[in-house]
Amino acid sequence: MFRMDPERAHLRAMSVAEHTTPLIRLGRLRVRDERLSQRLWGLRFPNPVGLGAGYDKWGRGISAWHALGFGFAEIGTVTALAQDGNPTPRLVRLPQDRAVINRMGFNNEGAAATAHRLAQWDRRGVLHRIPIGVNIGKSKVTPLEDAKRDYVSSLERLWPYADYIVVNVSSPNTPGLRELQESVALGGILEELVELNRVKSQLTGARRRPILVKIAPDLTDEQFDAAIDLISAVGVHGVIISNTTLSREGLTSAARLTAQEGGLSGAPLAARSLAMLRRSIARAPQLPVVSVGGITSADDVWERLAAGASLVQVWTGLIYEGPAMVARINRGLIARMDAEGIRDISELIGREV
Ligand SMILES: Cc1cc2nc3c(=O)[nH]c(=O)nc-3n(C[C@H](O)[C@H](O)[C@H](O)COP(=O)(O)O)c2cc1C
Repeated sequence: MFRMDPERAHLRAMSVAEHTTPLIRLGRLRVRDERLSQRLWGLRFPNPVGLGAGYDKWGRGISAWHALGFGFAEIGTVTALAQDGNPTPRLVRLPQDRAVINRMGFNNEGAAATAHRLAQWDRRGVLHRIPIGVNIGKSKVTPLEDAKRDYVSSLERLWPYADYIVVNVSSPNTPGLRELQESVALGGILEELVELNRVKSQLTGARRRPILVKIAPDLTDEQFDAAIDLISAVGVHGVIISNTTLSREGLTSAARLTAQEGGLSGAPLAARSLAMLRRSIARAPQLPVVSVGGITSADDVWERLAAGASLVQVWTGLIYEGPAMVARINRGLIARMDAEGIRDISELIGREV
């Protein structure tokens, strides 16, 4: 895979996942152990390890994510309108740093086509075997001041299929998007989405969808605190910390790699992601956090859960560790729970605080 162009390798991996799910099942990568499961937002998460947004932007691998042993998976980012994303190449490996830089720019099929695909999974009765989140972002052509309309339109279409919704205001690859985090606009967008969620639930009799906000690791402490306060105040259900970073601190790769434009993910993001998790738990202990950034091992997950994260997600780790990483993490968690006398994953969550 490493001899291939990184985006081609990713698309190949996606395609293999999509078309060989029965074979993946034979690999017995699903670690089934009640001690790893928890209920959160009215949903049952069979284990705490989820697939991060941006891997399956299309919703093509729903069955495969279940077969690979993920406890949940996040589809998207999906925008209201279909878009091609930035020109290729737009994904770069930094193997020496166990990292990648991406400037994909929300290449996706748009909310209508994605809803159609998720509806097909739903008709087959396999959409909700694990919780499926749908991550929504702003279409590139939509001006920032109309962002609310864009998010509302995506939520309208995707609401019926999502177990939870993520409002992405933190990708560095859509011009101006991250400005939303710091502005009053975010409050307006979130209030509207929370209200639409309530109305949809009332009209259909189905339960409300938990709404989460995904934030960037590059906020200053003051911006971060303001974002957490706002998110708590508007009745959002949780926060995903964090998206990729524009920082290039601590990298050892050649300058021609580190100078690439885009968001950095993987090992170099881990310390910042963990620090932000701790800051969020200290400021808003009642607000569930999904921790993401540089996670590759059971010990990494242990550390995040003990620091207060309710769930974690992985993305870049899959490139360097391969898809069996999820099973390895879950088996490692059980082994450590046995060794430390922890009977249930919820006993571990927040233990350090
Ligand atoms: C190629 C690539 C594409 C991504 N696309 C998205 C995206 O569309 N939406 C999003 O919210 N995050 C996206 N992310 C960010 C990841 O979901 C995650 O927050 C980040 O990579 C940190 O986790 P990691 O270190 O485990 O990769 C993307 C990451 C990568 C590497």
